[in-house]
Amino acid sequence: MRVVVTGGAGFIGKHLVAALVARGDDVVVLDNLRRARREAVHPGATFIEGDIRDPETVARAFDGAARVFHLAAQSNVMGALSDARYSFTTNVVGTFHVLEAATAAGVERVVFSSSREVYGEPGAVPVCEDAPLLAKNPYGASKLAGEAYCRTWHCAGTGVNILRFANVYGPGDTGRVIPLWIERAAAGLPLEVFGGEQVIDFVPVKLAVRALLGAAERDLGEPVNIGSGQGTTLLGLAARVRALYPRCPSVEIRPARSAEVVRFVADVGRMREVLGIEPPDDPLAGLADLAAKQANAA
Ligand SMILES: NC(=O)c1ccc[n+]([C@@H]2O[C@H](COP(=O)([O-])OP(=O)(O)OC[C@H]3O[C@@H](n4cnc5c(N)ncnc54)[C@H](O)[C@@H]3O)[C@@H](O)[C@H]2O)c1
Repeated sequence: MRVVVTGGAGFIGKHLVAALVARGDDVVVLDNLRRARREAVHPGATFIEGDIRDPETVARAFDGAARVFHLAAQSNVMGALSDARYSFTTNVVGTFHVLEAATAAGVERVVFSSSREVYGEPGAVPVCEDAPLLAKNPYGASKLAGEAYCRTWHCAGTGVNILRFANVYGPGDTGRVIPLWIERAAAGLPLEVFGGEQVIDFVPVKLAVRALLGAAERDLGEPVNIGSGQGTTLLGLAARVRALYPRCPSVEIRPARSAEVVRFVADVGRMREVLGIEPPDDPLAGLADLAAKQANAA
């Protein structure tokens, strides 16, 4: 079966592509390498270096595809703040191109990677999928708009499923709090904490990949949160990282960044029910293994 992974050279994409190639799928990766390297593309996949902002490139990549995992995005809050236009043209217009091309190519199902950022600052946690959608930064807004297009295409008969990821972590990620802190702790530098009161739902990338694979198999109907269902404070995370690096000095508290959501924990009832995925007992159980892998890669 031919499967396209947009953003397949990125963090989650690499893990997904490895799983698809391992099970024998004919995998096409479409990525513009904005936040990835060519060497990150799995050797068993066909690589198209291209941009989802270009509709012709997307149409060419989708030719003959049965399924599309749509992961290509401007994928974080700080990046969207520094270039809101790129996040709009990629996450909204690019997603529109993906839906248009998938319909024209007769793709059976598209899985859209949305984010917990669509909720903005929730009134209470855990947050279920029916909670108000009050995105508070341009990244969340772009994912929300992408979801709206996915929903309309789904209503018109194209198979589209939406997964709302919490904070995914694992080997091969860069630029987010866990890989940054492991890097600093290994170098004997203090961990920079912006605020410190944040409560974050960390979820291992293996679980995210299982969710993506499962979502390609059935119509989910409504969006599904993908998280661990447990909150970790940033200071709690810092303590877990420092426990792995006895040389790491204390944390450095800096002012909180106002665009960041302070508290999110996913209600994972629907994930359990429709995807049959159980959340991990300890969401950060993979931290030591990740630190070892990061040290080997350095
Ligand atoms: N990692 C997380 O914690 C998390 C949480 C919520 C949602 N998500 C979503 O999951 C998806 C994958 O996230 P990730 O962590 O692997 O991000 P990532 O940044 O590592 O991967 C995204 C990939 O998309 C590519 N890309 C960016 N703009 C593009 C464009 N215009 N055309 C083609 N390719 C483009 C990048 O080069 C990169 O390889 C994204 O849609 C992201 O928004 C991730």
